[in-house]
Amino acid sequence: MESERILAEAGVPSPRVDAELIAAHVLDLPRGKLMLTPLVDRQVVEAIADLVHQRAKRIPLQHLLGWAAMGEVTVAVGPGVFVPRPETELLLEWALQYLKGRPSPTVVDLCTGSGALALAVATARPDAKVHAVEVDSTALAWARRNLAHTQVELHSGDVTAPSLLTMMDAQVDLVVCNPPYVPIGTEVPPEVGEHDPFTAVFAESEGLAVIKHVVNLAARLLRPGGAVAIEHDDTQGDSVPALLSTRKVLTKVEDHQDLAGRPRFATGHRAER
Ligand SMILES: C[S@@+](CC[C@H](N)C(=O)[O-])C[C@H]1O[C@@H](n2cnc3c(N)ncnc32)[C@H](O)[C@@H]1O
Repeated sequence: MESERILAEAGVPSPRVDAELIAAHVLDLPRGKLMLTPLVDRQVVEAIADLVHQRAKRIPLQHLLGWAAMGEVTVAVGPGVFVPRPETELLLEWALQYLKGRPSPTVVDLCTGSGALALAVATARPDAKVHAVEVDSTALAWARRNLAHTQVELHSGDVTAPSLLTMMDAQVDLVVCNPPYVPIGTEVPPEVGEHDPFTAVFAESEGLAVIKHVVNLAARLLRPGGAVAIEHDDTQGDSVPALLSTRKVLTKVEDHQDLAGRPRFATGHRAER
């Protein structure tokens, strides 16, 4: 397929999948039905070619489609907001598992970006009271759009601020967070370096600058027995659990791997009284 060849030559990591998703998007069809649909309409062929050429310039596929998936939900994404990643679905699965058997839980999604995690939790658990926190004004605008008409409460706030959500101290059942964690100076693909906001991806102190605050905030917000899950870089499989373990109120600290066996997120539980 011509589109696949163009994308492969541009260094796009999954050229066939991207070419098919672009064609399915233009034709407004599920990807699985593409093979049954002959491309005869000239306007359609031109619209596909245009998007393929944009993708070949390494504009993120999700910006071209206008959406990204998180578990069972999709969120609108585009310039100025971090594109949710499939690997975060592992943290989401852990979170939903943790919430099983806990009626009407209070959940806080720190560093919510597009609001993807908050929306996925709120959709899976309509009985939950979900709060989402984000500092960046452009990301907040995307989150506002994605969380409109949901029960999620969106807060404009900085996770490094000591006064954040103090009214919820020791009342939260679950804190989830996919923070900026890539160490500054790490080489990243053009889709990330040129299109994800810098402060959504990178953090000082070997990528731990924001995570340090998230650990302290979670320790303050969690009720006894509550839990925290923090996504991290694959170089932080020791350092993030170590940060969680510095807080005596947090117990049962564990790290979790992704499907490729790389360290991906850490969890801890607030000790019962
Ligand atoms: C890696 S993105 C994750 C977004 C979303 N949770 C997801 O998984 O798609 C990190 C987000 O944290 C936000 N952020 C960075 N520093 C922050 C801070 N100090 N307080 C609150 N949000 C912050 C960024 O603006 C960005 O939207």
